[in-house]
Amino acid sequence: MLPPISAISTTPPPLKSCKIHSMPPEKIEIFKSLESWASQSVLPLLKPVEQCWQPQEFVPDSSLPFGDFTDQVKALRDRTAELPEEYFVVLVGDMITEDALPTYQSMINNLDGVSDETGSSPSPWAKWTRAWTAEEKRHGDLLRTYLYLSGRVDMKKIEKTVQYLIGAGMDPGTENSPYLGFVYTSFQERATFVSHGNTARLAKEGGDPVLARICGTIAADEKRHENAYSKIVEKLLEVDPTGAMIAIGDMMQKKITMPAHLMYDGEDPKLFDHFSAVAQQMGVYTANDYADILEFLIERWRLEKLEDLKGEGKKAQDFVCGLAPRIRRLQERADERARKMKPRGVKFSWIFNKEVLL
Ligand SMILES: [Fe+2]
Ligand SMILES: [Fe+2]
Repeated sequence: MLPPISAISTTPPPLKSCKIHSMPPEKIEIFKSLESWASQSVLPLLKPVEQCWQPQEFVPDSSLPFGDFTDQVKALRDRTAELPEEYFVVLVGDMITEDALPTYQSMINNLDGVSDETGSSPSPWAKWTRAWTAEEKRHGDLLRTYLYLSGRVDMKKIEKTVQYLIGAGMDPGTENSPYLGFVYTSFQERATFVSHGNTARLAKEGGDPVLARICGTIAADEKRHENAYSKIVEKLLEVDPTGAMIAIGDMMQKKITMPAHLMYDGEDPKLFDHFSAVAQQMGVYTANDYADILEFLIERWRLEKLEDLKGEGKKAQDFVCGLAPRIRRLQERADERARKMKPRGVKFSWIFNKEVLL
């Protein structure tokens, strides 16, 4: 048994998605009526392709004469040489999470009223989702190339994990409701901003400034995306405060599941738990970060100051606004229990079955 590392429950919970299409059909009109607002306020948060970074800018240039190319590969390997094994576990888990992007695009396109109905729909919601996906695609591509060239990880096991994960999908409990969906993505983009920011810091401390720049650059994209999604929720709080507050309460009640919670490498049935435990231990993404994100969003959306909420909305407000301290207390207790347990080694196929102490 692993020590109870995290109070935010990393074990995949029982499936949440029993409810589907839970948003009343009349609310679809809200999203129709917000289209011009979305064009003016959300789409500008995308970056024009010509101004975007591309993965190639951060990795050895394979069009150089062979010797120059391999010199660059060698420099990359020298830089990553001192990074510990557990760092690679976390970076691989982050890369795999990014690489399951088809699942996330599908999830957003399953939200009623904001989906891309033709595949190239001119609706601003659809435009956002396609361009967001295109921006996100660079994250997995860049991390994958860097990891591949480092020689530190077992690419075949990583590739298998990605294939399993995309096949498994995800279960965020968003019920095809854009209210729930955009609360989820607001939280999630901030969570990835935090974790890529932390892998950047650790890369710098571990002697690889290029990898630090890579993770930092990805984190900056996540921040911009977080801004867009939380702006949408902010707008929903303005046009339908009770409905939006209930949605926030609902998602927090279910707990925000990490997008890659169904990951599997064909070997370790508790792979996601183990990966999350390493991320928690290294301070890359922790239960305290979860509580911090919640507090940040409460402040950003001014949830404590919302007035005139009706019945369920008021209950949701009380629940959400009191939740962060409860999470922190649970985590403290979990940490205490974990301290009393002997550390044990867990093997990760991604790093050639080397053991990491948890
Ligand atoms: Fe990303
Ligand atoms: Fe993102």
